[in-house]
Amino acid sequence: MSVHVLIAAAELDPLVKVGGLGEATAGLARCLDLLGARVDVVIPDYPVEFSHHLEWTVPVPEWAGGQAQVRSGYLDDIGEIHAVSVPGIQRPHPYNDPANGHDGWLDNDRRFYAFGAAVAAVAHELEVEVLHLNDWHTASAVAWFPPERTMLSIHNLAHQGDADLGWLPAFGDRARAFEHLGRCNPLAAAIRLCRRVVTVSPGYAREVMTPAFGCGLEGELAARADPLVGIRNGLDQQLWNPAEDRYLPANFSFGDLQGKAVCRKELLHRTGLEETPAPVVGMVTRFVDQKGIDLVLELVSFLSTVPAVLVVHGTGDRALINAARRVASMSPAHMRVADGYREDFAHLVVAGSDLMFVPSRFEPCGLTQMQAMTCGTIPVVTEVGGLADTVIDTDRHPGRGTGFVASTPSVPALLDALHRACRGWRNRRRRNAVQRRGMTTDWTWHKPGQQYLEIYRDLAALTARSTPRPQRPSQSSQRAVDVEPRHLVHLESGPVPNESPPAARRADDVRPAVAQARSA
Ligand code: GLC
Repeated sequence: MSVHVLIAAAELDPLVKVGGLGEATAGLARCLDLLGARVDVVIPDYPVEFSHHLEWTVPVPEWAGGQAQVRSGYLDDIGEIHAVSVPGIQRPHPYNDPANGHDGWLDNDRRFYAFGAAVAAVAHELEVEVLHLNDWHTASAVAWFPPERTMLSIHNLAHQGDADLGWLPAFGDRARAFEHLGRCNPLAAAIRLCRRVVTVSPGYAREVMTPAFGCGLEGELAARADPLVGIRNGLDQQLWNPAEDRYLPANFSFGDLQGKAVCRKELLHRTGLEETPAPVVGMVTRFVDQKGIDLVLELVSFLSTVPAVLVVHGTGDRALINAARRVASMSPAHMRVADGYREDFAHLVVAGSDLMFVPSRFEPCGLTQMQAMTCGTIPVVTEVGGLADTVIDTDRHPGRGTGFVASTPSVPALLDALHRACRGWRNRRRRNAVQRRGMTTDWTWHKPGQQYLEIYRDLAALTARSTPRPQRPSQSSQRAVDVEPRHLVHLESGPVPNESPPAARRADDVRPAVAQARSA
């Protein structure tokens, strides 16, 4: 049975990517397309650069601008993309104000609550069977789309989009679900209302029901333990396959690792580090508290005795980047910081390093450890969330190990794991065995994609049985020229009478605007 789903997210690689969310959204959508699902993706128009065939509008509440502009186009292998513009959404960075110490934009609540309203309206217009929300940026949509056909994926509970309680009336009949600990909290609402809730790894699904990881929502999540399931993210094979990676100076596979040596050499050259027999430890990370970069800075002084050299690449919090630079400048022979994320350089760090350090305090899934294993780079991780799910400690489980696991996110435990990893790496036979297991594990989206598809089908089937799909008044509308009929499905139907957002304009106000869609 084919199912039509709308995936809503704040990021979609390659159009917009701040962290793993963009890569995960694209990877899942691409895989679902291969599995035969019909996938549409809706993202905010920050603006994003892509060639669109169509411009149209959807009705949203007055506080959200009354109408949201939508640009629709097709992205290779992914499907139909809808970039939605609501007031204030256009910014140089999706979430953070660079002029304000990289803190969130002060109006992020309004920007993304409005985006959520537009997501629901797009879902109605496209007549999708299932709406798949991702993280808080999309969560407000649950106020305006049938929750029994809606699911939520949680990529990071640390961000909930909570705001002043004064927001509640904006969410109409379902407003009460948005109230949590004296704040308006859209993520809490989606957790309470959505038919299914997914975390991006099984380990994180267990953790989030505890106070240590639940970020205040552990009670809500425990109350929904039945609909809650962990599905580990996959890796997008188009992006992560060292045998074909176009960003690398040389390609390689487990059968022939010569190309990996070329990548390592290039990495040392590009970072100005001396050729060394010691292992090169890579980190591709966001500079935020979650990722434990501060813990790493505390152990840099030990690198000369381990011995190992460290290359850190990524963007994020200015204060953390500056701290890392200061520490690196005191150990120039052992550490380099390359800040400012670049896709090609990130691939070089992952493929050219010998070990990959992922010392997170919590990690809903984590992609770099899987990228590393695909490239024969041995991961050194903390025992949390998706890291614990994907990396098996080689000392604890000889014969099965795929990396080295620190039992806690602390300096002594990380130093111990790093020591063990360097020892393991120096022993060529052990190194090869660990590399082989990592490189031959299936990290693709194939299995996780099927798990998502099963949930979509359940949701679609349940609703098909319980509630007849609402009949929409058919209305004639102008067609854009040179656009395939599939792109215009939404132009041929009216809104669902009972499901339009509260203060939305009536159908008749909106229709003509939609009908004016034109080929861009
Ligand atoms: C967030 C999480 C990370 C996860 C990614 C994709 O960035 O912090 O662990 O891998 O989302 O789901």
